[in-house]
Amino acid sequence: MRSPETARMRETHRRGDLVVIANRLPVHRASPESPWETSPGGLVSALMPILRENKGVWIGWAGSSETDCKTFEHDGLYNVPIYLSNEEVRDYYEGFSNSTLWPLYHDACQTPQYERRWWAPYVSINQRFAEYAANEAAPNGHVLIQDYHLQLVPGMLRELRPDVRIGFFLHIPFPPVELFAQLPWRRRLLEGMLGADVVGFQTRHGAQNFVRLVNRYTSHRGSGQAVNVNGRRVLAKEYPISIDFDRIESLANDPKIIEHAKKIRSDLGENRTIMLGVDRLDYTKGIDQRLRAVNEIFHKGNYTVDDLVLVQVSVPSRESVDEYIEVRDRIEKLVGHINGEFGTVGAVPVHYLRRSLPIEELVAYYLAADVMLVTPFRDGMNLVAKEYVASRKTETGVLVLSEFTGSAVELDRAVLVNPHDIDGMAATIETAIGMPRQEQTRRMRSLRQRVRKRTVYTWASDFTHALDAEQPRPSSATMQLPIGTNPPTS
Ligand code: G6P
Repeated sequence: MRSPETARMRETHRRGDLVVIANRLPVHRASPESPWETSPGGLVSALMPILRENKGVWIGWAGSSETDCKTFEHDGLYNVPIYLSNEEVRDYYEGFSNSTLWPLYHDACQTPQYERRWWAPYVSINQRFAEYAANEAAPNGHVLIQDYHLQLVPGMLRELRPDVRIGFFLHIPFPPVELFAQLPWRRRLLEGMLGADVVGFQTRHGAQNFVRLVNRYTSHRGSGQAVNVNGRRVLAKEYPISIDFDRIESLANDPKIIEHAKKIRSDLGENRTIMLGVDRLDYTKGIDQRLRAVNEIFHKGNYTVDDLVLVQVSVPSRESVDEYIEVRDRIEKLVGHINGEFGTVGAVPVHYLRRSLPIEELVAYYLAADVMLVTPFRDGMNLVAKEYVASRKTETGVLVLSEFTGSAVELDRAVLVNPHDIDGMAATIETAIGMPRQEQTRRMRSLRQRVRKRTVYTWASDFTHALDAEQPRPSSATMQLPIGTNPPTS
């Protein structure tokens, strides 16, 4: 129950004291006739408590099928849908965001496309988001802008509403100078981000890359974590995002989910080692290389289909972008190839589920899996790795983790791999399969301590406190944090 004090403070908060802007709304529905449902995901669960406490507003695209764009309240939050036409989706979302920025920021593991015709729609959609935010934000309110789709919004919003505090957080990697320098619109994007008071990244490297790029391509100067923008200080710092550890752990303690995990184990074969992969079906995730490594393990002959099985859950994503269609084809061919070569009647080496699973079912898979394979070529953070760790209350199980994920910074007690090295990955997975229980426990205990210590609530609290600290305003304008969200101690 809320204390009377909190309830009183809550009354002093106005709608628009906290505005979140993201490409997508935090809700979805199956059809315009169906009820809205809160979307699963770390960002939504991280921000929900703060948004509820602050009469928050979330501005975002409601999806292609939504044409009715009236503001509505759902689960204590005001949702402000932004309409995008089919052409705008093609140019701003599929084009500039997902065919230029996404591959470039992920180390160009797919060639980025620099189409001039996508830039103007990217600018105009960013302007649309900024105008909506300018309308919604209360005087001296806080606006938190999310991710690569909206890098120009901080600057545009500052022009429209110099009174608000602006935070920008990039969920994906921020690339080194040599890569970012390719972008024909590099200066505009950097200037856009500098409109914020705090620019947050997943890793220290991302923040350092940003300050270096600002020094090289803008007239502003930065050193360490600070950039001076005409006398205004912009903080550029890492805020590694995380998960709701307690929620995942309590799901892992749920008798129904434990029962489900046992059923998965017995369906797959009690004596087999279960490997698991859970990813959005994206070429950055390295699913095809992972399958090649598994193929290599069977080829070497130390294990047969009776010893080993991989369950690969691939959640369909961005299905109208060509590269996503191609990677899906590659993956499905490889699955067919491995099963054709090493399967027997009654047992296949790879079970491939191309669908999204509710978190309850995912946790059952995490509980059933002896070895978790998280092997992206590049990933801003990767929350699946953290969810696996949070589920493993028995302190057993091995996390095989790509060294090119943001999570590898914190989860350095995982078994780290280079996903480009198929032989190395195959050998490392074999080591993981054979890892003695004592060693598993030593590693898992330390991983669990790490994830438990810095949850998604720590992330949200650190980021919003930084925003308050950057530009002190009258106390009435500071953000109300939900019960249990402590200010950072350092
Ligand atoms: C990544 C991005 C998010 C995005 C998500 C799903 O995690 O950082 O901003 O929402 O992928 O992608 P989608 O294109 O379906 O929104």
